[in-house]
Amino acid sequence: YAQAIPVQDLLAQGITSVPEAYIQPHPPIYGSQRGNSTQIPVIDLTLPEEEITDTIARACKDWGFFQVISHGVAQEIVDGMLQAAKDFFDLPMAVRMKYFSATPVPKTTGYSVRFDNSSVVDCRDFLFQSLCYPPSSDAVKESCPSDPPHYRDSSARYCEAMHDLGRKLLRYVSRGLGLESNQIEQSLEELHHSMLMNRYLPCPQPELVLALRSHTDPNVISLLVDNGVPGLQVLKDGAWITVHSLPGAIIVNMGDQLEIMSNGKYKSAEHRALANSDSTRYSIASFFEPPPAGPLIAPFPELVNPQDESQFQAVCYRDYLAIFFAKQASGKSVITQVK
Ligand code: SIN
Ligand code: FE2
Repeated sequence: YAQAIPVQDLLAQGITSVPEAYIQPHPPIYGSQRGNSTQIPVIDLTLPEEEITDTIARACKDWGFFQVISHGVAQEIVDGMLQAAKDFFDLPMAVRMKYFSATPVPKTTGYSVRFDNSSVVDCRDFLFQSLCYPPSSDAVKESCPSDPPHYRDSSARYCEAMHDLGRKLLRYVSRGLGLESNQIEQSLEELHHSMLMNRYLPCPQPELVLALRSHTDPNVISLLVDNGVPGLQVLKDGAWITVHSLPGAIIVNMGDQLEIMSNGKYKSAEHRALANSDSTRYSIASFFEPPPAGPLIAPFPELVNPQDESQFQAVCYRDYLAIFFAKQASGKSVITQVK
């Protein structure tokens, strides 16, 4: 239990310095960031389809990140989910601990502060919902926290909407690769959908810690919303770019499985979150993944030049995740193992 007490709750008590375990050996270098002039691409989903396909394709090659506006997910649904997440974190510690997951990775729904075995702890706590779709199924209802009471409804509405958007984006991504729109989804056989709620409380020494260490997402594609407090940074050409999302925008990023399937054409970009000393930041990530015991993930043959060796080996997602979570996950360390 003691280990699980997040620094977050200490922070809430007004401590003025962070405990040793949270201090990064190499403090995040704030000076090397670019100004606001460089930003992840913004894509309006009401544009003509061809234009969306091309813009997404370019964003996936150049950044591995973009933000979508006019995406059709009602703001009220997003706000309801953010509120439910906030209300969960505001519950007394004893209630949150009912959901505590002792393993570094909650394989099932769980509340925790660390997602791998690394010795340095991120300045956040999180709630992971392992199964989000379809919300009406018994399996999802079981996976869904029952505190606070309105969490289940907010999460059902949110996951329903995000699932539609996730599938739509995968169709564009598929077309942008020169594949049939449904080819990515079909090759996965089934689209697994999980969700991670992050809370980052204000930290008295933000320059010494990371809210969330640098990583790439292991899954296929991720959608992210936050409460408007900046913190997310994307690594682009060796510099950290702070993401300033437009109001109501949803941030989209490619994961390692898509980098593999696209044979490296699309990037699974490194990203991290910085702490700050003023405001609490909440973010909610929706992960679309291959089913755990699903088909092997490999580059689409159409994307492999017959002269070249295929750039990636075929991997089983479950094995990939096992490596991902066993490592002190940082940066590209995992995907390079399947080259
Ligand atoms: C994540 O990478 O899962 C979350 C990033 C963020 O909080 O902005
Ligand atoms: Fe991530």
